[in-house]
Formats: sequence, C-alpha cells, structure tokens
Amino acid sequence: MDAMVAPLGQNVQVLPLLETEPMPASSAPAPRTHFDAAARDWDQRPMSMQLASVPEHLLAQVPFFADHQVLDFGAGTGLLSTAIAPKVAHVTALDTSAQMLQVLNEKGFANITTRQQDIFAGLPQRYHTVVSCMALHHVADTAALLHAFAGALHSGGRIALVDLYGEDGSFHGDKETNAAKGVQHFGFAPEALQAQAEQAGFADIAFSHIQDMQHRNGRAYPLFLMTGRLAY
Ligand SMILES: C[S@@+](CC[C@H](N)C(=O)[O-])C[C@H]1O[C@@H](n2cnc3c(N)ncnc32)[C@H](O)[C@@H]1O
Repeated sequence: MDAMVAPLGQNVQVLPLLETEPMPASSAPAPRTHFDAAARDWDQRPMSMQLASVPEHLLAQVPFFADHQVLDFGAGTGLLSTAIAPKVAHVTALDTSAQMLQVLNEKGFANITTRQQDIFAGLPQRYHTVVSCMALHHVADTAALLHAFAGALHSGGRIALVDLYGEDGSFHGDKETNAAKGVQHFGFAPEALQAQAEQAGFADIAFSHIQDMQHRNGRAYPLFLMTGRLAY
C-alpha cells in the first residue's frame, strides 16, 4: 500500500474502502445520516439537477490530463467524479456517506474508487487535483481542510472548489434544517477563503461566479468556483 499522508500531524487511520461491486438493494445498510437517507433520489432532486452544469464550468477552467490522479472531496453520487473520470487516469471519490457512494458505485466507472471516510482521517496517496462541489460548507474548520488538501497534493497540484457565496442561512432551510444537514457555514466570503488557502500554501487563487441556484423560496443563490495551485 502507498504511504499514508496524514494532514496536520493527525494519526493515520485507514478506513475500509467500499466494494466496487454494486451491493444488492436488500443488503444495503440502513440510512444513518441526512446524506445516507437522501442518496437514492439525490440525482433527481431539483437542486442536484441545477448543479448538473457545474462540471462543464469546472472543466472549462481547470486542466486535467490522462495520467492525472484526482480526489473528489464530498463526492456524493459523483457529480464531479463521473465528469472528470473520462479525462484522467483515476478519481478517488471520498465521502462519509456510504449510501451516496453506493449510488456512485452503481454507475459502474472502472477508474473511480469510492472511499468512505472523513477527509481528516488521512489519505492513501497524493493527487494532481482536489475537486469538490457543495461540500466545503459542511466542514467547520476550512483552514484545516485547505491544509489537508495541500498535504494531499503533488507539488504544483491544483484545487477546484465549488460552493455558495455568503448567504443568510435560508439556502438549506431554517435553523433546525441547517443543523440536521450538518451545515457549518452559510456560504463563504471569497477573501476569507483566499486568506486560508494562501496560509495553506496555495497561490494563483481565483474566484469566478459560475451560476446561480434558483431556490423554491424564489431567491437565487450564486455559486463560486475557487481555483488555486500549490506554490511549492
Ligand atoms: C451537499 S453534498 C454534495 C455531494 C456532491 N458533491 C454533489 O454536488 O452532488 C455534500 C457531501 O459532502 C459529504 N461530506 C461532508 N462532510 C464530509 C467530511 N468531513 N468528509 C467526507 N465527506 C464529507 C457528505 O456526506 C455529502 O455527501
């Protein structure tokens, strides 16, 4: 096995990989988290359907090559992983939700490996690019997250991260719903994330407004794509 990369001096903990073979529905584990419970119809949700245009924005701005290894943080059912996989050697789709990853496994991509673990539990190899869509706002300590990404990248490796610009908490619902969904940030101010990324060792950081999410509450919530490159 490759050497483990442990971010921030944490102890390395190897958590089990999911089987790449689809599990029969009858043996699927019982839902444990919001995302486990939402997994089966995740791709058909109105919000997920709007996110379907995110990969083309990301692919237009970030170079991927045939020998590249990519990490998709908070991969869910594979919105980014499945779009990137045909362009690279391998995608590791990392998520804490077994059932989101089970849906991704059932899509049958030979060069996507699902990995059920917390991002802070250590990673098994280094990557050329870390991508993510709508997962940052579920992590309380984004400074530590960006350090973990830096520690998982090859020299000069890239980040391409999509999330919400600052909002008032209404995107996911009321206070209880935000808590139930594990929402840690009501979007982000680009300057704050940029400062954290620079602190973690990234340079050439850029934000672009890639699309708006039209909510059933009648409001539009803008999404950013943040890109950057390891300075060392
Ligand atoms: C809103 S979903 C986005 C899924 C997918 N990227 C998409 O855009 O459809 C956020 C995902 O991040 C995962 N997640 C949240 N915190 C995580 C952590 N600390 N480590 C790994 N995955 C995490 C959740 O389980 C969930 O599947």
